[in-house]
Amino acid sequence: MSRVALIRRLPKVELHVHLEGTLEPELAFALADRNDIPLPFASPEAMRAAYRFTDLQSFLDIYYASCSVLLTEQDFYDLTWAYVQRAHADNIRHVEPFFDPQTHTSRGIAFSVVAGGIRRALADAHVHFGVTSRLILCILRDLTEHDAMETLDEALREGLVDGLGLDSGETGNPPSKFARVFARARTARLHLVAHAGEEGPPSYVTEALDVLGAERIDHGVRVLEDPALTERLVMSGVCLTVCPSSNVALRVADTMESHPLRRMLEAGLRVTINSDDPAYFGGYLHDTYVQAAEALDLSDAQLVTLARNAIDGSFASQTRKDELRAELELATGY
Ligand code: HPA
Ligand code: ZN
Repeated sequence: MSRVALIRRLPKVELHVHLEGTLEPELAFALADRNDIPLPFASPEAMRAAYRFTDLQSFLDIYYASCSVLLTEQDFYDLTWAYVQRAHADNIRHVEPFFDPQTHTSRGIAFSVVAGGIRRALADAHVHFGVTSRLILCILRDLTEHDAMETLDEALREGLVDGLGLDSGETGNPPSKFARVFARARTARLHLVAHAGEEGPPSYVTEALDVLGAERIDHGVRVLEDPALTERLVMSGVCLTVCPSSNVALRVADTMESHPLRRMLEAGLRVTINSDDPAYFGGYLHDTYVQAAEALDLSDAQLVTLARNAIDGSFASQTRKDELRAELELATGY
């Protein structure tokens, strides 16, 4: 079996995808038209051509601006449903997407409109495709603790999310800024994750684990800089949701060939492959696996390990994990 054929067969689990980062220019234009909202681009092609980033912040500026076309519950449904269809086409069997409610509530859109539309599409994903999911609210770390706490309180009142995460501009916004928000979420029995060690130092990964109680680290590509932290993560089996095409697009890594993913895998870290913001970084999950596998010459066994790590690192029920592991064994012989 060719490498691409093996990747196609893998029952995949995606643990790091921002729903707002799946907004394709064509859908952005359709929603802009439907909602009578101007976009600063002449066409979807012109919008896509503007996607040239120098770092995380240069991407975030465009990513947040594009969200202005999302207004109604149906808009959030359509955004999520478009992703679900692509996920199904990529043989994704379970997904734990992120969304950024503060990007929308700050524009006057109710939390229930945002999360309600997303949840309805995720429920349909289960009915139509058998794709299971957990939904994770991400706090924007460049905003205040107060704003984060209000957002979490609203989410807990609505009961529409399964986990809490932390994203947006990392530099200067350490995890400890949100210690009390994560403590409250832990009391409410939400799952906890955090972006750390993308642009920020390895010490942010340590803080995410020790101060926030994060169960998974999103990105974490800088952990190899700290051998003691690497050893700790290997011993504890904490899952790292690595996004290689995002890291190249945002210049966290110089090239796909020099990306640390393979070295992380060979160090025994529980790494997974994810797409992050696929509408912006040139590919959904299948393509991301292929790009990384070809550039880093990953073996079949390493590809199966990546897929298994994602099952093991997910928040799916034990029964669902057993099902997915059985599907993986049947599909690959591993
Ligand atoms: N990092 C931080 N915030 C984000 C990202 C990311 O990769 N994608 C969307 N928001
Ligand atoms: Zn991310």
